[in-house]
Amino acid sequence: MSGSSAPAFHHDPVLGPRAVELLDPRDAHLYIDGTVGGAGHARLIMQRCRQCRLLAVDRDPEALAAARSALAPWASRVRFLQARFDAAAGDLEVRDAGIGGALLDLGVSSHQIDEDRRGFTFRPGAPLDMRMSSSGRTAADLLNTSSEDELGSVFRDYGEERRWRALAREVVRRRAETPFTTSDHLVAAMTRVAGGTVHHQDKARIFQSLRIALNGELEALARALPALRDALHAGGVLVVIAYHSLEDRLVKHAFRDWSRACVCPPELPVCACRGRPLGAALTRKPERPDADEIAANPRARSALLRAWRKAA
Ligand SMILES: C[S@@+](CC[C@H](N)C(=O)[O-])C[C@H]1O[C@@H](n2cnc3c(N)ncnc32)[C@H](O)[C@@H]1O
Repeated sequence: MSGSSAPAFHHDPVLGPRAVELLDPRDAHLYIDGTVGGAGHARLIMQRCRQCRLLAVDRDPEALAAARSALAPWASRVRFLQARFDAAAGDLEVRDAGIGGALLDLGVSSHQIDEDRRGFTFRPGAPLDMRMSSSGRTAADLLNTSSEDELGSVFRDYGEERRWRALAREVVRRRAETPFTTSDHLVAAMTRVAGGTVHHQDKARIFQSLRIALNGELEALARALPALRDALHAGGVLVVIAYHSLEDRLVKHAFRDWSRACVCPPELPVCACRGRPLGAALTRKPERPDADEIAANPRARSALLRAWRKAA
């Protein structure tokens, strides 16, 4: 699987039909796919709506190249932007015209995980990279230079690791002898701390924690949500598919807060704010893929979809 630079489309997009049904693309509005990846969702958007225009955003140049070829049939209605999705609301056309809706399908794509050289995987011998774009610190840099406290916070907060202290200490001890360069080094540290075999899910959790920290994923999401909300036309929809409980919590709280009639602090005796909701959630609880979808694409198993519509 590794070594190929050809775009790989292994699966249908996660919760694709439902996400696009909620987004409800229509007329000649502009839509943002902030995580276009292999363009699975974007293709569904373009197939469903004959006039819509799409701003296809990804911070990963390889993903954008894959999206460009997948969206070739709709090239006249698609514009590509290599950027973080939190910058998409600052795009000139978005600022001028606003958007009919936006979709964020967070995390990494199958293509990124399947390419060992990108270092998102814990398969043996894979480099510790995990950068979504080609610049910045790698996961190896993070492991080799962060303080024990910083590493502990990453494992605890993003990895929900019970033995976060011991794992951070073990990384610091080991790197003094040999700097971390491949997945094997981190798996060895985890194995030592676990006192035996480390399960697949535990490796996935710890590797994911480094990825989230390294790419500032929660910070980007926290900035993007209000920016995209403000760019929506009246009646426009924001759809987010999250794969981590902390991501989903950010989305849940944002959608709940924006749906409140009053956002004054509780100590104010009288409402002094706008006094009407900015919009309403379209999903009361997060929606999940069904068993068939998970069987066909195991990476969909942790997906949590929420949608919110701006008041008309
Ligand atoms: C789960 S994949 C998206 C798959 C896509 N929906 C599809 O159907 O093929 C997530 C994509 O988002 C990109 N990404 C993650 N965080 C990003 C960010 N902050 N800004 C822009 N792109 C981001 C990744 O590079 C990756 O290509």
